Amino acid sequence: MSSVSEEVTDRTVATKRTAAPIGALVDCGDVRTLDERTFREVHRAFLDNLVILIRGQELGIADLLAFGRRFGELTPAAPVHKGQKPRDYPELAVISNVVENGVAIGGLGDGEAVWHSDSCFNDVPPGASILYSVEIPPSGGDTGFSNMYLALETMPETLRKAIHGRSIKHDLRYTSGGQLRPGYTGFEDIRTTPGPKHPIVRTHPETGFDALYLGRRPHACVDGAAPAESEALLDALWAHAANPEFTWHHQWKLGDILVWDNRCAMHRRDAFDATCRRVMHRTQCRGTPVIPGTGDGAGKRHPRAVDGRQ
Ligand code: OGA
Ligand code: MN
Repeated sequence: MSSVSEEVTDRTVATKRTAAPIGALVDCGDVRTLDERTFREVHRAFLDNLVILIRGQELGIADLLAFGRRFGELTPAAPVHKGQKPRDYPELAVISNVVENGVAIGGLGDGEAVWHSDSCFNDVPPGASILYSVEIPPSGGDTGFSNMYLALETMPETLRKAIHGRSIKHDLRYTSGGQLRPGYTGFEDIRTTPGPKHPIVRTHPETGFDALYLGRRPHACVDGAAPAESEALLDALWAHAANPEFTWHHQWKLGDILVWDNRCAMHRRDAFDATCRRVMHRTQCRGTPVIPGTGDGAGKRHPRAVDGRQ
């Protein structure tokens, strides 16, 4: 047996929670060489903390995709431009403000990305997203996360009753950076927004806990509600869910990986200086159809939702 494989087998994972009710720093060494047992600990940390930060990695595109695949089957990334050429790595999404020869190399630009859960506008939205920093600006572009188990857990009773059994219709035209996707035109009647419906309370398929599932605020519509009722309900839900007490923001270093769980966490990104370069590589895992939850808690609380209430 080579000394390298011995080292890998003996590796243990140190997990350190953030001071917020979401997120943990996971120290597992080089993610390219994790054995099965070690990866299971990393995956456990992901389910327990909703988002994990792993630092100091040096990953080529194929390495990132191989690591992503350990969290589940990867999905092809949506094209950012009309007529984009077939790419060597269809499961890689580039998140960047860099423009080369008049063509953006990736999505999301340099502005704020509003709170969202990735690809909530798909019939089957993703599970994990894995984001790796390749080039970062000296400041700005921090990525924030919010605990949707906790948002549901702390929801006022009247609001909980108002959303019971209801769904949100999600808008598939715009990115979280506010850009129109290729092939879509903007229009403003929220009742005719193209996109799927998902239950507002969903049961996480792996942890079994219920979480609030809002997707994103712009152009969303509570299914079956008149526009004024929908707007009032969504405003109340977002006022509750965007509570800074549920959140943690990460300031990137080169070589950082964040893995977040779109089924129970939302995220956002700060704007940054447009004259600086930011290049991130991302991949996503296929989710499963959204399971409606009751939201009544039934005495079951995710560990980070319990701590957040203290
Ligand atoms: C994403 C995303 C935020 C960031 O990749 O889905 O929202 O910090 N990225 O780049
Ligand atoms: Mn996103």
